[in-house]
Amino acid sequence: MTVSEAITSRRATRIYADTPVSEETALRVAKLALEAPTAFNAQRADLVVVRDQAVKDGLFAASGQAQLRNAPVVFVAVARTGVPTDLEEIFGAERAAGIAQWIGTDPARLRESAMKDAMLVGSFALLAAQGEGLATSPTTGWDEAKVLEAIGLGESTEHGVALVIAAGYPAEQPEHPGRLANRLIIDRY
Ligand SMILES: Cc1cc2nc3c(=O)[nH]c(=O)nc-3n(C[C@H](O)[C@H](O)[C@H](O)COP(=O)(O)O)c2cc1C
Repeated sequence: MTVSEAITSRRATRIYADTPVSEETALRVAKLALEAPTAFNAQRADLVVVRDQAVKDGLFAASGQAQLRNAPVVFVAVARTGVPTDLEEIFGAERAAGIAQWIGTDPARLRESAMKDAMLVGSFALLAAQGEGLATSPTTGWDEAKVLEAIGLGESTEHGVALVIAAGYPAEQPEHPGRLANRLIIDRY
């Protein structure tokens, strides 16, 4: 499948076949998703691969959205919203201090920049899954604290949830819901 085929064939899909998604397939999707770019390459986003039914049940409790309970696999794109502590590991001691300064310590900005990273990881996961023949349902309709709780981060003040994605082999084929042409702007408004 080409990238353009993956993009054009993807539809938000909420009903899945009983066919299991192998661990290898789920991990392949996750590793591709984590190839997404991040600001400075500071990698302030994680991707949780959820195959455990108890965790999926927790995601359902956090959202009331049945696809998160019924999907064979769910991906959770998590933002590392705290002050990064592993910059030396990524950049080496010499460059880490400068990058830390750029990233800053303002909580709102830390959250926003990490959420952008995590959203890109989530977006890449949608297309990587499509490339594996999986259909996906991206969601933001959940209680963030309850999602964090479900994935084992209930106590954390240094994480946020960007996107929760149900995935499985499709058992429905939703129509394209359409896009307005006026979202494409050339040069300036
Ligand atoms: C940021 C975001 C949040 C979304 N949240 C939900 C959600 O909570 N529940 C749901 O069923 N679909 C959700 N969707 C799916 C959208 O409804 C769907 O992508 C949109 O209708 C366009 O359809 P398409 O993805 O087939 O092009 C979300 C999509 C995005 C991008």
